[in-house]
Amino acid sequence: MAYDLINVDCFSWMAERKENSITSIVTDPPYGVKEYTEKEIEKKRNGKGGIWRMPPAFDGHLRKSLPRFSVINDDPKERKNVYDFFSKWATLAFRILVPGGHVFIASTPLLSDILSLAMRNGGFERRGEIIRTVSTLRGGDRPKGAEIEFAETSVIPKGMWEPWGLYRKPLSERTVAKNLRRWKAGALRRENSDLPFCDLIQSTKTPSIERDISPHPSLKPQKFMRKIVYASLPLGNGIILDPFSGGGSTLAAAIHFGYDCIGLEKDEQFFIMSQNAIPKLASLYPNLFTQTENISVSARQRKVSRDFSLIETLF
Ligand SMILES: C[S@@+](CC[C@H](N)C(=O)[O-])C[C@H]1O[C@@H](n2cnc3c(N)ncnc32)[C@H](O)[C@@H]1O
Repeated sequence: MAYDLINVDCFSWMAERKENSITSIVTDPPYGVKEYTEKEIEKKRNGKGGIWRMPPAFDGHLRKSLPRFSVINDDPKERKNVYDFFSKWATLAFRILVPGGHVFIASTPLLSDILSLAMRNGGFERRGEIIRTVSTLRGGDRPKGAEIEFAETSVIPKGMWEPWGLYRKPLSERTVAKNLRRWKAGALRRENSDLPFCDLIQSTKTPSIERDISPHPSLKPQKFMRKIVYASLPLGNGIILDPFSGGGSTLAAAIHFGYDCIGLEKDEQFFIMSQNAIPKLASLYPNLFTQTENISVSARQRKVSRDFSLIETLF
């Protein structure tokens, strides 16, 4: 197993990367593009607001700041900016992925339609959407300035899930089986023989033990990341890329399974912080989703013999 974390802008790295050389991409990009620009990150680090706002502290606890995606959602110029960013990104991703390679990409319900269009126009097949259940602190508020008058209303639903788009580069071979043999890609790895990868994943906020190890504002939880990272390599080998690696949750999940992976992060502070954090995150919960190969094999054998005995009974 090998992993590489590089302090670089993913657009330039991806443009230089060899064609058909990445097996899957698992990533959590800046959903609205703007929130991780140097200008906005500097404002956040100086506590100067910008797109990052502090949610109200109902219980007196200090809350972490969150980007306001409604700022982008409401402005056609900002929406075009998001489309252009993901359109350019999709073209680069398409070239370096092997045929049949999957992309798992996080978004927000407010902007996932724009991402989806950019991915489709970039040549990808849409293969569904993974729902990560999580209370997001988005929405649910009463109309501003008239909270008492309209006490029984909320302006937008309270966010209880996060969409992860699932896309695939079209196969080069005639069948999935042939594509799997040639590129080790085209399908998703099952949790075990009896359980296919499912698109609804119960999740929670990232636990404090993980946030203390990797204090990145958008760190995703290991429990969730390990599920999708595991599924992304159907045969358990190949290379995973996270072009927006942030606090390193994708790389940590990949290392946990012994998968080869590459992480790209353009911000130097996040890069340095995550270099340290990744091995520590990877070694958390050693028994959570470790390789289930032995269990899978025996479960598969049981299923095969059950199927054979069924056939025997039929004839
Ligand atoms: C939403 S965060 C990723 C968080 C990550 N999934 C985790 O669990 O920690 C997006 C990251 O992408 C980085 N980023 C933004 N634009 C980038 C680019 N063009 N190239 C590389 N990294 C970039 C940001 O600095 C930020 O750390």
